[in-house]
Amino acid sequence: MDNYNIPEIARNVFWVGAKDWSRRMFDALIPLPQGTSYNAYLVKGDQKTALIDTVNPGFEAEFEEKLNLVSDLKKLDYLIMNHAEPDHANAIRYIMDRSPNSVLVTTERGVKLASLYHELPEGRVKVVAEGDTLDLGGRTLRFIEAPWLHWPETMFTYLPEEKILFPCDFFGSHTAHGVYDEDLEDLIPLAKRYYGEIMMPFGKMGAKALEKIEDLDIRIIAPSHGPIYKNPKRIIEPYKKWTAGETENKALIVYVSMWGSTKEMVGTIAETLLKEGVDVRVYDLTVSDIGDVARELVDSRAIILGTPTVLAGMHPLALYGAYLVKALKPPARYGVVLGSFGWGGGALRQAGDILAPSNMEVVGTLQVKGRAKEDDLKKVEEIGRELAQKMKG
Ligand code: FEO
Repeated sequence: MDNYNIPEIARNVFWVGAKDWSRRMFDALIPLPQGTSYNAYLVKGDQKTALIDTVNPGFEAEFEEKLNLVSDLKKLDYLIMNHAEPDHANAIRYIMDRSPNSVLVTTERGVKLASLYHELPEGRVKVVAEGDTLDLGGRTLRFIEAPWLHWPETMFTYLPEEKILFPCDFFGSHTAHGVYDEDLEDLIPLAKRYYGEIMMPFGKMGAKALEKIEDLDIRIIAPSHGPIYKNPKRIIEPYKKWTAGETENKALIVYVSMWGSTKEMVGTIAETLLKEGVDVRVYDLTVSDIGDVARELVDSRAIILGTPTVLAGMHPLALYGAYLVKALKPPARYGVVLGSFGWGGGALRQAGDILAPSNMEVVGTLQVKGRAKEDDLKKVEEIGRELAQKMKG
């Protein structure tokens, strides 16, 4: 095939990635309602050519065809590996087998991690560190170590002549739609969802990386998933808020209900909070996309978990939700757990154990036997009013 769309994002800088329109799950964990893209970039200097990252398994042949349309793969000089995860690094061997003089360029940590997952050609690796540069002839690649975004070895590459930052997963979004940020009106909610799913547990490292690039003159941000930002501020500004853990006066309610009692309790607290001026988002975990929940976690000030007791513990879906909250490390400051049981409780204790290591202050818990009675719902209202006061304070 020779009619691929290969945007030239700046003079002699080409997007040569792949769009995965129909992929619906990532890491066997993250739903992808709009598929995703694996972005790779070819930079041609006067003397040398460099490829920044590769593509997911299954897209190698398409990738090779694209590279040969804008260059000659056999003559590739450098393969820059910003990140070792297979969606960007799995085609290293495929590409290097077809470009006999190419050299893999990555950090020391990058070599170690890449060696675990990929077969690296013997003696064809160049290790770089913070601030090192590579001269392509009229084009320079500068390397910025940005560890733990979201693997230990991650780095950014900067092209000063065109003021382009290639930050791999950082600033990314899972969508196959669009080429540039201006193509997607709903891009920031998608980027926020991606941040919640992938970057939020490493928010502090993200803040450090933002400090590192603060003085860089950036005209274009070219991440490894989703559209390329011609307007870098559109994503840098929200990232500043998200990595700082800034929250909104917003409560996220996630719940499961078997016979309606827990649902009545979370409905009551939702109405109370709304009356008190709190923004509320409610997700029934039996029908919700967990990516939407991750997006709301990014800036919710409070989390309310509702779960019935099943076989002496939490409902399995609520257990999954609570575990995700623990793992994603959201910045929420306040928590409430509500639930119901038939003949023996247990869900509240288990939820408390899971959420204990978080920094959330537990404002209230309530577990009712059977249906929630009027008195129970009054107690829920009281918890809601106390929570609203704390959130405003
Ligand atoms: Fe898109 Fe962490 O790989």
